[in-house]
Amino acid sequence: MAAAGTVLLANAGVYLHTTLRGKLRIWERELDRAGLRGDEQLLDLGCGRGAVLIAAARRLPAGRAVGADRWTTDQSGNRPEATLANAAAAGVADRVEVHTADMTALPFPDGSFDVVTSAMAIHNIPSPEGRYRAVDEAMRVLRPGGQLLIADPWPMARKYAAHIGQGTLRGLGPGYWYGGPWLSITLLHAVKES
Ligand SMILES: C[S@@+](CC[C@H](N)C(=O)[O-])C[C@H]1O[C@@H](n2cnc3c(N)ncnc32)[C@H](O)[C@@H]1O
Repeated sequence: MAAAGTVLLANAGVYLHTTLRGKLRIWERELDRAGLRGDEQLLDLGCGRGAVLIAAARRLPAGRAVGADRWTTDQSGNRPEATLANAAAAGVADRVEVHTADMTALPFPDGSFDVVTSAMAIHNIPSPEGRYRAVDEAMRVLRPGGQLLIADPWPMARKYAAHIGQGTLRGLGPGYWYGGPWLSITLLHAVKES
């Protein structure tokens, strides 16, 4: 009993660290690596309350960070007003917009974004066909030369890369473990061919 309790407590601690700090730090790093100029149009799929959307908006003083979400209960308090309030608190409300949209059928024209991000969202789509449709939609709305960054569990990230036939995969490390190494997150980074 004591051993099981210790393991459960450790899982909870790792999970809390990831959701409160780890994933935020890792996305700061990954957005820095993306080398944004500051005037890009960026789309965050499944933005939720804005962890990635707002970190991106901070790097886009002359650009725009657009969030798309269906506002499911995957995240507590998930609604567009909460995301916009978080953007206002971070001082980036002027460059953030949110859309209620299904990422398998995005309401944006082809090639309209320089960067598409998605953090722990595509894997929530129940069917493989739906997940591939979301990845296809992400590629459709990217301009040629634009960057795709998707963070999802390894088995899915690997399949997205195989589906689009390109991209590099990188484990994001213990800071993005949901409880332990059995639910670790991988980043797919791809650049849309011109
Ligand atoms: C676990 S939350 C992640 C939120 C945020 N990206 C983050 O890392 O904090 C998953 C998000 O994906 C959204 N979502 C799930 N299926 C979706 C779909 N088909 N279209 C748009 N958003 C979806 C949920 O509403 C939720 O906000």
